[in-house]
Amino acid sequence: MTTANEEVPVQIGLTTTEAPFIEERKAAGELYIQQPYDLYSEANHEAWAALYSRMSPRWEKYANQHFMRGIANLCLDPQRVPKLDDVNQFLNPLTGFRAKAVAGYVPAFMFFDCLRNREFPTTITIRRGDKLDYLPEPDIFHDIAGHVPMHTDRAFADTLVRFGDLAHLAAEIAQGIKDPEKQVKKVESIIKAMARFFWFTIEFGLMKESDGMKVYGSGLLSSYGEIEHCVESSEVQRFPIQLEWVINQYFEIDHYQPLLFWVDSFDHLFSLVGELEQWMKDGKLDNVSPGEPLVNEADLRSFIAAEFSSQSVD
Ligand SMILES: [Fe+2]
Repeated sequence: MTTANEEVPVQIGLTTTEAPFIEERKAAGELYIQQPYDLYSEANHEAWAALYSRMSPRWEKYANQHFMRGIANLCLDPQRVPKLDDVNQFLNPLTGFRAKAVAGYVPAFMFFDCLRNREFPTTITIRRGDKLDYLPEPDIFHDIAGHVPMHTDRAFADTLVRFGDLAHLAAEIAQGIKDPEKQVKKVESIIKAMARFFWFTIEFGLMKESDGMKVYGSGLLSSYGEIEHCVESSEVQRFPIQLEWVINQYFEIDHYQPLLFWVDSFDHLFSLVGELEQWMKDGKLDNVSPGEPLVNEADLRSFIAAEFSSQSVD
């Protein structure tokens, strides 16, 4: 029991949409930040523990083998929100990848460029403990428990880097177009194609393994409900991935996905990114079907105004 004079420590926390620290960094125009670990509240750690413990048996059942190896290699603490520095100590020696804390939305070119440099823009806030299923935007559970275990896999990591290279190609193509109207139209279509590919693979991809359909997409790996639904439900259509379909297929983010695509392996996925690159060069991404996702002004500008050297980092 506390008396009127007793000071009750206020733990502000780093909760999704309720984190003054993040608002301050954004207001200061900072995108890449340090993870202020001491700011996590006990409620934040409890939310992590609850998410992790209910997810674990579902990962055992539905996650692909590369993810299971990855989560073991990262040695995440099931009870406490992870420190990015600790995660990187285990991750970096395996594939060169690093989780890099960000204060908010990273425009598309910058995001893909980070992947190219083996950096993963990582949200550090965590969802509220009383709303474990409700996720208005990515949080640290999605990014660290859903994405980062995949980055421990060499073939998957190389696929992400190859995808990041595509952003440079897209920016070069964009900046070679003199007519502003044509430039915007073409870039919008290319970004849409890239976003759809990313969505149906990195975020919501399935993999056919010898013991059945497994999950490798991070949106599925971090969703307690959907990881089961996507494999078990007869309402979900699952097809072998076809590039021409994926780049023209709209998607909506506010409900379980009714349509998913599977790959055979990450070597398969790597080769698809190569195909996507060729299609980009051939102009086959210049006029994809309209619809979701909408490409915002910041994403468009990030490609049109991108500054980079054409030197490869490989
Ligand atoms: Fe994600």
